[in-house]
Amino acid sequence: MSSADTHPYPIARIGIIGGGQLGRMMVQAAHRLGCTCVVLDPTPGSPAGQVSGHQIVGDFHDPARLRELVESCDVSTFDIEDIGSDTLIELEAEGNEIHPSPRVLAEIQDKLTQKRLMANAGIPTADFIEMPTPDADAFAEFGYPLVQKARRGGYDGRGVAVMKSPNDFGRNLPVPSLIERFVPASKELAVLVARGRNGETRCYPPVEMVFRPGENVLDLLLAPANVSAEIADAARQLAIRTVDAMNAAGIFGIEMFLTETGDLLVNEVAPRTHNSGHHTIEACVTDQFEQHLRAILGLPLGSTEQLAPAAMINLLGAADKSGRPVIEGMAESLAIEGVSVHLYGKAATKPFRKMGHVTVLDADLDAARRKAEKVRDTLIISGENHP
Ligand SMILES: Nc1ncnc2c1ncn2[C@@H]1O[C@H](COP(=O)(O)OP(=O)(O)OP(=O)(O)O)[C@@H](O)[C@H]1O
Ligand SMILES: [Mg+2]
Repeated sequence: MSSADTHPYPIARIGIIGGGQLGRMMVQAAHRLGCTCVVLDPTPGSPAGQVSGHQIVGDFHDPARLRELVESCDVSTFDIEDIGSDTLIELEAEGNEIHPSPRVLAEIQDKLTQKRLMANAGIPTADFIEMPTPDADAFAEFGYPLVQKARRGGYDGRGVAVMKSPNDFGRNLPVPSLIERFVPASKELAVLVARGRNGETRCYPPVEMVFRPGENVLDLLLAPANVSAEIADAARQLAIRTVDAMNAAGIFGIEMFLTETGDLLVNEVAPRTHNSGHHTIEACVTDQFEQHLRAILGLPLGSTEQLAPAAMINLLGAADKSGRPVIEGMAESLAIEGVSVHLYGKAATKPFRKMGHVTVLDADLDAARRKAEKVRDTLIISGENHP
């Protein structure tokens, strides 16, 4: 017996390209929904591979391994962008279900084509020009302050150079890139939007990314963002418009600047689950990982309602340590009311590597923030070796 709403178990076998922490949390959500997962990652025993129990060890750009994964699964997806989109486009054309569509991934994974897509759709972003090779005169003519961004392969701020004046030109990235206006921002916001296979969208409350003063390092995340209801609403509308312009299924993280003059500009789009949505596991009715699976499986999207204020910090590997992780201050952190610790199971730490995260729920967002700051100074991930 079978009908549209009758499924033999497992509900689906899901292929995940990328075995990092995002994949790991996706596998955990998939298991709850009665799905099984196969992970493709070059490192045996990857964070996602450990929990799925099925990993293909291989490169994200290897056409044979991508084919093996996609052809053995009902639906495939990814937790990173720097993967072989050409092969995935071929596999999709052959009738395999891959979401978000690799055609859209290909446009997003190149920051230049991503910016063009947004500009063509009328999405406000910082003005930009293409910069095939860095050129001092061209930079000066465009005008400082500016931000140079590598077209491909950047993440966690690698591949981004902020330049205040011509004196900074020496720090240019010697790769095909774009340059864009430096945006004086009062806040950086992120908005997660899920888009179903039928085009339905559901948007989470905007969150605020708080950076360390003077540095580009994400310090902590506050949810919901401390902005007026008007700005929160405008951010949601802009995020939905951006995701509709992508015309693909899955969850998308939309990073934006709230300028000093109160305007919203989209910084970038991630066609996947996002670091700014980790709090949804404890704080929202449907977390971002389950939501993504619902979207790519063609199931109804869940409620994005947030049930409690939350603060989130990343647990980064200590600056001066590597090797087998050594975790300090776990008991002291867990003793704080409202704290949830997530460790990603990475076999080795490296300076500033994302090793885990902590979400703190509290009826009062300021109190959640203070607790998260306390945990940041208490829960230390060091390692057995010096780098
Ligand atoms: N045009 C800009 N004006 C001002 N600051 C910027 C601009 N573009 C980027 N930045 C700063 O640099 C950070 C990283 O840039 P971006 O998000 O584009 O790169 P990324 O490598 O994809 O980073 P991540 O993986 O951390 O999201 C931004 O969060 C912001 O703080
Ligand atoms: Mg970013």
